[in-house]
Amino acid sequence: MPRRSPDIRAFVLVASASAVLAACAPKALTPAPQAAPAAAPAVSRVTPRAPGEDRLVDSLLAMMTLEEKVGQLNQLSGLADPTGPGGAEAGVGQIRRGEVGSLFNVIGADTTRKIQRLAVEESRLHIPIVFGLDVIHGYRTTFPVPLGEAASWNPEMGRQTARIAATEAAAAGIMWTFAPMVDIARDARWGRIVEGAGEDPFLGSAFAAARTAGFQGNDLRSPTSIAATAKHFAAYGAAEAGRDYNVADISERTLRDVYLPPFHAAVCAGVQTLMSSFNEINGVPAHANRMLLRQILRGEWGFDGMVVSDWTGIGELLNHGIGADSADVGKAAIDAGVDMDMVSEVYRKALPGLVRGGRVPQAEVDDAVRHVLRLKYRLGLFSDPYRGISAAGDQAAMVTPAYRAVAREAARQSIVLLENDGNVLPLKKTLATVAVIGALGADTGATLGNWSGMGRPADAVSVLDGIRRALPKGNVLYARGASPVSGDTSGIAAAVATARRANAVILVVGETPDMSAEASSRATIDLPGAQMQLVRAVRATGVPTVVVLMNGRPLALQELDSLMPAIVETWFLGIEHGNATADVLFGDYNPGGRLPVTFPRVTGQVPIYYAHKNTGRPSNDSTKYTSRYLDVSFTPLFPFGHGLSYTTFTTSAPRPSATTMRAADTLQVEVDVTNTGSRAGDAVVQLYIRDDVGSITRPVRQLRGFSRVALAPGEKRTLRFPITARDLAFHDGSMHLVAEPGTFTLFAGPDAEHGESAKFTFITPDGAAAPVADDCR
Ligand code: BGC
Repeated sequence: MPRRSPDIRAFVLVASASAVLAACAPKALTPAPQAAPAAAPAVSRVTPRAPGEDRLVDSLLAMMTLEEKVGQLNQLSGLADPTGPGGAEAGVGQIRRGEVGSLFNVIGADTTRKIQRLAVEESRLHIPIVFGLDVIHGYRTTFPVPLGEAASWNPEMGRQTARIAATEAAAAGIMWTFAPMVDIARDARWGRIVEGAGEDPFLGSAFAAARTAGFQGNDLRSPTSIAATAKHFAAYGAAEAGRDYNVADISERTLRDVYLPPFHAAVCAGVQTLMSSFNEINGVPAHANRMLLRQILRGEWGFDGMVVSDWTGIGELLNHGIGADSADVGKAAIDAGVDMDMVSEVYRKALPGLVRGGRVPQAEVDDAVRHVLRLKYRLGLFSDPYRGISAAGDQAAMVTPAYRAVAREAARQSIVLLENDGNVLPLKKTLATVAVIGALGADTGATLGNWSGMGRPADAVSVLDGIRRALPKGNVLYARGASPVSGDTSGIAAAVATARRANAVILVVGETPDMSAEASSRATIDLPGAQMQLVRAVRATGVPTVVVLMNGRPLALQELDSLMPAIVETWFLGIEHGNATADVLFGDYNPGGRLPVTFPRVTGQVPIYYAHKNTGRPSNDSTKYTSRYLDVSFTPLFPFGHGLSYTTFTTSAPRPSATTMRAADTLQVEVDVTNTGSRAGDAVVQLYIRDDVGSITRPVRQLRGFSRVALAPGEKRTLRFPITARDLAFHDGSMHLVAEPGTFTLFAGPDAEHGESAKFTFITPDGAAAPVADDCR
């Protein structure tokens, strides 16, 4: 992306503001008392403070009025074109008065420049605005939805796609994204499962760190970097009954061992901001949760960045019922440590009164402002509020051939071959006639998935188009059949007739993008609409059929699986959806994706996840008084980590470098993987661990290592996974992070249910649990 020449006038203004600041510095440097408890941070990799950062921030603070301070904590959405006809006058006035610290959903280099000019030229202290946007899985170049991309089991892919997203978004004036979403989700009814990396803290942490690094790049000041946000802090995915915004009632141990690790990983990767979540945790809403924000985030993890509320999250504390009016809830949120108020304007209206009335210490507000100014400083806004972006950023290269190539590779790597009985797949390109059936198959827009930013259907390739391109000489028929949204069966007869004219059917079924999204929980996660009737009717024709799924959550596919020999999970793959799908269907690409989340047989099994506890009566489908169901197996339809290939692999038993391990040791665990088939392909080797005996019951397995490797036919590779005490640790009865002595079982294999095992023993000098530092891995 070419650098744009900076706006000289603004530079002069900012430069002169800096000169004023420098002159004021001595008397401005009185440090405000810290509101947060001054616990020694345990992390070692928080962003180092740049020289001058604290000085600039403190100098500015010393010059600000209370209203200007509170203004920095105020974030508004929208404000189309403030200087054009119909410009939002109220917003303009607020900016001039220094009452807006951040704007989001303002798009376009030209527009952001105009608004920025108001802030830096017409407000008293010339403090620039930070512009945010939900850049979730691409800006213009849309990549697979995050859950789909996690199926690649390739965090480096997550870094690359985030990097491109940042580059495109930054050219359009965006400086800050509300991503990555790192919520662990174990209940597929919850529609937002699509936005994260699935059910597992270890895999989720790897993607959290990689995506953070991708958005932020090596240098936050670079005009291709944007600040990232780890959201939603915390336990949003534990919403009771999978109903969005619902309460999370979980133990502190589950919070710390399952839901927090990806946030910690993002903090370790240098994430600049976190967003509070809409839910309460054990009776305390996240937006008023001192334990989360002050004790854990700032105290234990040493985070010195900024916390933003979710959309009207502070105002919603009224509905949670923890305050009687705006003043109460504003106080609750600032006391807890929420720095910036997204949209609700509770801070702007209530905080000045709260401070003047003595209900909120000035130091708390100063601290929050400090976090906001620090973000702006780190983004380089005090040197160049336009970050080198000219109005022509709007014409910057988007969806370049290079970006498209990454989009295709990310899409291919995200596809999971769920079923392939009798090796129906790959299809031969010599088939005379192929029928694509299903409304989603021709729906270009659907490929983009939810939260698709500025993605455009015109840039995207549907499954139908992808197949037509793959078979330029073939006869490709299409019938709509049934839609995912209506119960209308009227198109099924025509679809059956179309199927009968074909040598093979590609049946595209699933969900529309808005079915797996915010406020899109589903009580049953079957194929929606009349699609199962369509499946049955196509099956009855006897024409060989492969199913292509498009969806943003696990679906309950028991019947579909019993009827169809081949099922390909394609999620919502972004602009290259159709090409990547065709690559897999016709064997130009050998699928290697693996499920980042368990697929149940029926909705009633949900929540279902591999790292469950054994119970006193471990599940056994043939023994009555065990933990099971009368009407369905307790096992999932497809386990976590599952995915097939057009070749075959064998995975050896894990070989630990020693049979005993001590707290300071790193055990090296070797695993051989061999391509035993006749095609090249990607294996994803997974290493799990089980603590055989613990003072607190331990999960039956926990992922502790994984590697996606490309193997030629016959090729064998030996992989090495390091295991340290941190990998054995959990929060004990006193909520200390410890590794307990005793035997551990290692499992290496293709998914969470299979594989060979080996044991080792963890030894401590006195036989007592070894304390483990909760530091960055
Ligand atoms: C969502 C956030 C999002 C915010 C801003 C909220 O409704 O929960 O994830 O970042 O809106 O668009």
